[in-house]
Amino acid sequence: RRATTLPGLAAMKAADEKIVMVTAYDYPSALAAEAAGVDVVLVGDSGAMTVLGHSSTVGVTVAEMLVLAGAVRRGLSTPLLVVDLPFGSYETSDEQAVATAVRFVKEAGADAVKLEGGGAMSVSRVRAIIAAGIPVMGHVGLTPQTATALGGYRAQGRTAVAARRIAQEARALEEAGCFSIVLEAVPSEVADAIMPWLGAVVIGIGAGPGTDGQVLVFHDLLGMSSGGSARFVKTYADLGAQMADGVRRYADDVRAGTYPGPEHCYPIEPAELAAFLA
Ligand code: KIV
Ligand code: NA
Repeated sequence: RRATTLPGLAAMKAADEKIVMVTAYDYPSALAAEAAGVDVVLVGDSGAMTVLGHSSTVGVTVAEMLVLAGAVRRGLSTPLLVVDLPFGSYETSDEQAVATAVRFVKEAGADAVKLEGGGAMSVSRVRAIIAAGIPVMGHVGLTPQTATALGGYRAQGRTAVAARRIAQEARALEEAGCFSIVLEAVPSEVADAIMPWLGAVVIGIGAGPGTDGQVLVFHDLLGMSSGGSARFVKTYADLGAQMADGVRRYADDVRAGTYPGPEHCYPIEPAELAAFLA
């Protein structure tokens, strides 16, 4: 397999080849993404919830995201590695946004960064980061960092006015230079209508089958998320239950005295043992 490049993604879009993106937050999830042959890996700020236990994405820090991203980098060789700029790390100024993006590239080995929103602030940050030489992925529709302002974790673009605004935001991000845009939680008809307006690679999550690719959260698709999941999630494994079951059987063995068995114990020469015990 050849490493994913930005021209490679554009070529996949042109050839109508679906692009596969998944999140990862540590070395083993990165190895799973690598082994599965996905095209793009996102160190999402969803890690705030999936691996750090926060109830929203806003609490995760740059320092924490750097740790997660570095671990993912060490597990990947072929997928493009995109890292989310966490809430509070890019809103203040273009300079702040560039400084944060540079840290993810320099300290964690990110190939690109992603930030949320398609309004004037986000568009300005996108231009500044791209001017500094770092590719940027946009994200419109349901943007979890500002979910409170959007009325919660709910589908977006369900009125004509709201759908038009999402289309305009996506266009503005593309004009600012985003190589790709995530479209989250919008009716598939709205996504389909926006697609012809966009030259950038569109990755959908809860946006129907018509986008250039799909992204899902690692823990959601493998059944490792606590609580209910969104309508768009499809679960491909039940790893949460399998993990709990494994730990439970270990605990049972320890309590029953059946672990460790002889095969888990180290030998010692009888003469050495006798001398030790003497
Ligand atoms: O943080 C994340 O996991 C994301 C994807 C769902 C697009 O932003
Ligand atoms: Na995110």
